[in-house]
Amino acid sequence: MSKLLWILFCILLSNFYTTHGQPCSNYVFSRNQIFTTCVSLPVLNSHLHWNYHANGTVDVAFRHTGSTTNQWVAWALNVDGSGMIGSQALVAVVSSTGSVQGYTSQVTSYGTGLQSGSLSFDVSRISTERVNEVVVIYATLVLPRGGTTFNQVWQVGPVINGAPSIHQMNSDNRNAVGSIDFSTGLTADSGGVGGSRQRRRNVSILENFRCLFFYIR
Ligand SMILES: *[C@@H]1O[C@H](CO)[C@@H](O)[C@H](O)[C@H]1NC(C)=O
Ligand SMILES: *[C@@H]1O[C@H](CO)[C@@H](O)[C@H](O)[C@H]1NC(C)=O
Repeated sequence: MSKLLWILFCILLSNFYTTHGQPCSNYVFSRNQIFTTCVSLPVLNSHLHWNYHANGTVDVAFRHTGSTTNQWVAWALNVDGSGMIGSQALVAVVSSTGSVQGYTSQVTSYGTGLQSGSLSFDVSRISTERVNEVVVIYATLVLPRGGTTFNQVWQVGPVINGAPSIHQMNSDNRNAVGSIDFSTGLTADSGGVGGSRQRRRNVSILENFRCLFFYIR
């Protein structure tokens, strides 16, 4: 293969890896809102989209795909700790008919029924939708203490007789924790390494090197 063709091939390959690393940014919201940043969370078919404002507020859209009826979906920040207990949750409850209702809930025990209540920070304009089995929770948060990095938790569970019930304990459910920096877009999994943007860049750089290495050989 000629040198030029090979370099073109390397560039194409690099773009392929870059775009495939960020499927969340291609999503078109039903109300055509534009969110400048998004991350695909590692488990439970979940994505977080947001606009961070310098005044310490953030407009978020938490998106869960493949939702079913009689299901709850939640995304939360844990301001003072990590994991489920103490998390400040945005909850969407999908009824048996597929209609969806959103509210906030503080998780104070493992036996929580996700009762509605106000959070430790201000949340405005919470709303939800379910389109093509995609549940979206929209809200504006006033980030507490001027911070931008928080522990996050997300979860999916059944609704029984109209009430949120305990979620499964599969590895995906247990691994639905991490941290997020709203100003930089970096996230970390429970393992505590990497960032979605950084990882994308690394994969793409790695593929370029591999490509050029094969060319030199
Ligand atoms: C924060 O900034 C955004 C974007 O400029 C604005 O829309 C919003 O109203 C502001 N919120 C507050 C509480 O000042
Ligand atoms: C990306 O590469 C940098 C530099 O080699 C490394 O320090 C970092 O851990 C890598 N991050 C991920 C997520 O792979």
